[in-house]
Amino acid sequence: MEISAEIKKFTDPIYKKVSSTIPEMEWAMHAPYIYKINKLKKEKNAVILAHNYQTPEIYHGISDFSADSLALAVEASKTKADIIIMCGVHFMAETAKLMSPNKKVLLPDMRAGCSLSSSITGEDVRNLKKQYPGVPVVSYVNTSADVKAETDVCCTSANAVKIVNSLKVNKVIFLPDDYLAKYVASQTNVEIISWKGTCEVHEQFNDVEINEIRRNNPGIKIIAHPECPPDVIKASDFAGSTSGMIKYVKDNQPEKVMMVTECSMSDNVQVDNPNVKFIRPCNLCPHMKKITLPKILDCLEKESNEIIMDNITIEKARNSVERMVKIGR
Ligand code: 13P
Ligand code: SF4
Repeated sequence: MEISAEIKKFTDPIYKKVSSTIPEMEWAMHAPYIYKINKLKKEKNAVILAHNYQTPEIYHGISDFSADSLALAVEASKTKADIIIMCGVHFMAETAKLMSPNKKVLLPDMRAGCSLSSSITGEDVRNLKKQYPGVPVVSYVNTSADVKAETDVCCTSANAVKIVNSLKVNKVIFLPDDYLAKYVASQTNVEIISWKGTCEVHEQFNDVEINEIRRNNPGIKIIAHPECPPDVIKASDFAGSTSGMIKYVKDNQPEKVMMVTECSMSDNVQVDNPNVKFIRPCNLCPHMKKITLPKILDCLEKESNEIIMDNITIEKARNSVERMVKIGR
C-alpha cells in the first residue's frame, strides 16, 4: 500500500508517540494499514480490543481498548459496538463472545491458541470433579469455553487470590496453570488442587538469569507475571497481572526495570514511560504474534473468523465469567 498525504496526516501523530519502539522503515509498512483499519472500524461500528502483549503498532495504532485479560472481558460486556475484533488469542475471543453473545466477535487468526488453554479439556474437568466431589472449580480465563462451562468461577492473574478466598472453603480445584496455582497457594490458606498446565512463554524464565540481571544492573526493579515459575517470582520485586505490571511502572517510575513476561509489554509500556530504562530479556508468545495488521484488516473487511458457540455452552460458561466479574479485581 502507498503512503498518500492523507495517510501521512492521519498516522504521523501516532508515529510521533511510538517512534522510540518502531523504526521509520517498519512504520512505512504499518501506516497504510493503520489508516485503513481505523477508517473501516468507524464505518462498521466495530471496536478493537487488544491484549497488552500485542505489538506496538496494534496496541497504540488501532486498538480502542488495550488491557489485561480481566479488563478485556469486562469491556466486551459493556461495548455498544456491533462487531468486536479481538487482538489476542482464541480464549479471549471466546470470552468476549460469552460476555456479548449477540455481537459478532472476530479473531484475526483462528490459530492463535494458548498452551494453558490447550492443556485441559471439559472432560478432564468432569473427571476431576468425580475425583474430588463437592470441591469448587476455579479456572483461569486462559481456558476454552468447554472448560469454563464446567467451572464454578473463573479468575485471572489479577484476581486469583481474591476469587479463591471469596469462596470461603478449605479446598479448591484450581486450573490449569500449575505455577499460578503455586503462587495462589503461597498467598492463601486454602488447599489448592492444581493441574499440570504451564504457559510456554513464562515457564522459560529462571531465577539464575534474573539474579544475574540484578547483579549487572544495581538498583533495577524486576517485576514478574504470576505465570512464571515460583523461583522467578521469589527473585522478583513484584508479581502481578499485565495491567498490574504496567501500573507498577507508572506509579514507581523506576530508573531501570525488567518485565519478566512477553516481549511486547516492554515496547508498549516504554512509549508511555519515556524516562524508564527497560532491560529486555523477554520471550515472545507465538500465539499473540499471529495477530498482524494485514490479518486484522482482512478480517474486518470480510467479517471473517467469527467465533461461533452453541447456546448451552455460552450460558454455562458465561456464568463462571460473570461470577468472576462480580467479585472483581
Ligand atoms: P493477564 O493479562 O491477565 O495478566 O494475562 C496474561 C496472559 O497470559 C495472557 O495471555
Ligand atoms: Fe497463553 Fe502464555 Fe501466550 Fe498468554 S503468553 S497466550 S498464557 S501461551
